Amino acid sequence: MTDPTPNPALPHDFLPALAHLKRRGFGETVPTVALILGSGFGEVEQAVVDPLRCPYSDLPGFPAPAGTAGHVCRLSQGTLWGVNALVFRGRYHAYEGHAPRDLAACVWVAYGLGARILVVTNAAGGIRPDLAPGTLMAIRDHINLMGVNPLVGPQRLAGAAAFPPMGAAYDAGLLGQLLEAGRAVGESVTSGVYAAVLGPSFETPAEVEMLRRLGADAVGMSTIPEVVTASALGLRACGLSLITNQAGSAQDSHQQVLQAASANADRVAGVLKALLRKLASA
Ligand code: HPA
Repeated sequence: MTDPTPNPALPHDFLPALAHLKRRGFGETVPTVALILGSGFGEVEQAVVDPLRCPYSDLPGFPAPAGTAGHVCRLSQGTLWGVNALVFRGRYHAYEGHAPRDLAACVWVAYGLGARILVVTNAAGGIRPDLAPGTLMAIRDHINLMGVNPLVGPQRLAGAAAFPPMGAAYDAGLLGQLLEAGRAVGESVTSGVYAAVLGPSFETPAEVEMLRRLGADAVGMSTIPEVVTASALGLRACGLSLITNQAGSAQDSHQQVLQAASANADRVAGVLKALLRKLASA
């Protein structure tokens, strides 16, 4: 990006972070895609070739992600599987108590740096009976039960539509490419509806039954604020969930989720690689 002026649509809170990144060379070449890596999938970031790197802790106005002691939280830009990519290793969760808009800090910054495609990954609990642990699910649509919307606040005045439609929050073309990417690497990626709750507690069996009746196939505690913001900004978005556990089981634990995510991280990376290769040749 040759224009050094901040994008006027960005809320003021994210301008210092954007300026900091631009001073370090981020956005000098326009990224095609921004990728947000959920817990357990951080290793993908190691595949970025010749990356520029910046820890979130260096970004003014970027809240410290809570509960991430010992985890690397940083942004990288470089070539990932043939695509100029911004890779966000670490994300913000509503249950950490952040302000609504901060939940999508990565998306605002990605937008400010010029990315127009967002790919998100997460771990989720399976609700639909065929979604056993280890299943990969491309997000077809979502149900926001977090009780929070990232567009609440003054950024409604800063350029994003005041009442943005969500009818195409998950881009149909990208969803198709994600499913094809799965087939290309021999993974059967199914599609489904992702519901997000506030957390941090897991769901009771009655809540899981409620979610099922509402039309949710899987449940998690992230992603929706990022996709809502992306959609409001006109980014094309897609999401890939790894089912790590059966939602509502008495054994649900964060450790189990992280273990399952790490154990399947290579499969997730394989599908992402095939997707980015498709985007590179598009
Ligand atoms: N519930 C909510 N969030 C989750 C789950 C779950 O069962 N698994 C992974 N993230």
